[in-house]
Amino acid sequence: MRQDAPAFHRNKQPMLNVLQSILPTKPLNVIEIASGTGQHGPFFTSHIKNLTWWPTDISSDAIASINAWREHLQELSIQPAQFLDVTDQQWMTGQPIKGLPNQVDAILSMNMIHIAPYAATKGLLAGAGNRLATNGLLILYGPFKQHDVAFAPSNQSFDKNLKYRNPQWGIRQLEDIQQLALTHNLILKQIFSLPANNLAVVLKKQPNRLQTQPRCEA
Ligand SMILES: C[S@@+](CC[C@H](N)C(=O)[O-])C[C@H]1O[C@@H](n2cnc3c(N)ncnc32)[C@H](O)[C@@H]1O
Repeated sequence: MRQDAPAFHRNKQPMLNVLQSILPTKPLNVIEIASGTGQHGPFFTSHIKNLTWWPTDISSDAIASINAWREHLQELSIQPAQFLDVTDQQWMTGQPIKGLPNQVDAILSMNMIHIAPYAATKGLLAGAGNRLATNGLLILYGPFKQHDVAFAPSNQSFDKNLKYRNPQWGIRQLEDIQQLALTHNLILKQIFSLPANNLAVVLKKQPNRLQTQPRCEA
């Protein structure tokens, strides 16, 4: 049941460094979106002791692998994996989901938004906007396009390959995500350049906008 992702062995340490530099040291609840094999959670929580980790994925094979790693490593801060599709209304609108906390301090999504239709990016941002506590962080990891940065040849061919596999997949434009995130009260806080032309993108939840009070006629 325990699957192994070769990319995990390459990106686990750079991402751990990012998480150690941005996450506060108080007890934190972290939802991981698209946990895949489920290897990242145990690695991060074994090094950052204040995290309670809530792994999720849309795929039942992934859920089985996440739970198998959890049992194998006996990492107590890892919670049982939950089935979650970020395009589900329940996630996007912030309604309670069984087995997950309703409000969290951080949401991490590694290597999902380019290997899923753009609806998944939209759903991820909407749900994050509704579930992050004020000042909570949404952390994205993967390749991105940026207007003022040359598109690396390796990412160009990866993008072509993704679109060949599914025309709705592809490397996303960071500025589009930044714009969309603003509509969910998430502002870009930091960008880390990581090996193999990947980025870690950190967005921060702003206080909810004040609702305009209806005028009371005297
Ligand atoms: C390339 S894997 C990345 C897995 C892991 N995060 C990693 O970096 O090794 C992409 C994952 O996204 C998940 N996924 C795709 N669409 C999704 C959606 N709509 N909601 C949640 N997960 C999704 C897939 O099931 C898969 O496990």
